[in-house]
Amino acid sequence: MKNTVLTFAQAKKEKQKISMLTAYDYSTAKLMNDAGINSILVGDSLGNVMLGYDDTISVTMEDMIHHTKAVARGAKDALVIADMPFMSYQTSVYDALVNAGRLVKEGRANAVKLEGGAEVCPQIQAIVQAGIPVCAHIGLTPQSINVFGGNRVQGKTENAAKKLLESAFAVQEAGAFAVVIEAVPEKLARLITEKLDIVTIGIGAGNGCDGQVLVYQDMLGMFSDFTPKFVKRYANIGELMTAAFRQYDSEVKSSDFPSEEHTYRIDDEVIEKLY
Ligand code: KIV
Repeated sequence: MKNTVLTFAQAKKEKQKISMLTAYDYSTAKLMNDAGINSILVGDSLGNVMLGYDDTISVTMEDMIHHTKAVARGAKDALVIADMPFMSYQTSVYDALVNAGRLVKEGRANAVKLEGGAEVCPQIQAIVQAGIPVCAHIGLTPQSINVFGGNRVQGKTENAAKKLLESAFAVQEAGAFAVVIEAVPEKLARLITEKLDIVTIGIGAGNGCDGQVLVYQDMLGMFSDFTPKFVKRYANIGELMTAAFRQYDSEVKSSDFPSEEHTYRIDDEVIEKLY
């Protein structure tokens, strides 16, 4: 059955945890969908893990639409959320509306995600009013890395914690159906989760959130440029891939691949006539 914003609301009510992973292509989305993952986030983290950028700043609307289309084809049951890339919504409510519309209409996302608190509430309100569900994102918001000066834990002082709580209430008030909380101390994320009516999805925010999200290359050991403390490695697929690539390389060079088993045949009579 398709996961929807109603499924999210129901899960919160029934205290059932929500699973979310990032994906950027059809095959991975299909595997996650078939594993029962509730929601797939086409994160702008694709800038790091798919395109090799140092951050998410350079990701474009075209990148997001391209990858969202692929994921949407594989995610029959999972709720597909597409990230709004840097400067696709900060510039104006109008831009936010147009670009959210493109992610849903061209990318076939079920919802969009954008980063920020009170400053993006007019955008959230307008997008929701246009009929597009919005997931907010507070705490460490990677598009503002140049303001933060690095990937740091957020909300540790009284002032910062108060501001985060205010941001959470603001995005809820603006109409967001969920909020991602990134790199925030567990006790603060738990408090926010208890106070909010909408779903909280944690990443580096402890076990008290309504759901969890991870970047799939991180949890599968496929990306080693940097690994945040909050990442749990569920498998070491990166090592398996490297071993398989090495074996292929060596078998091609030794002519062990392709063998009979992977080769098409033709009658000798036919081939002899060509000599
Ligand atoms: O882009 C992304 O993958 C994200 C998650 C880290 C929440 O925003």
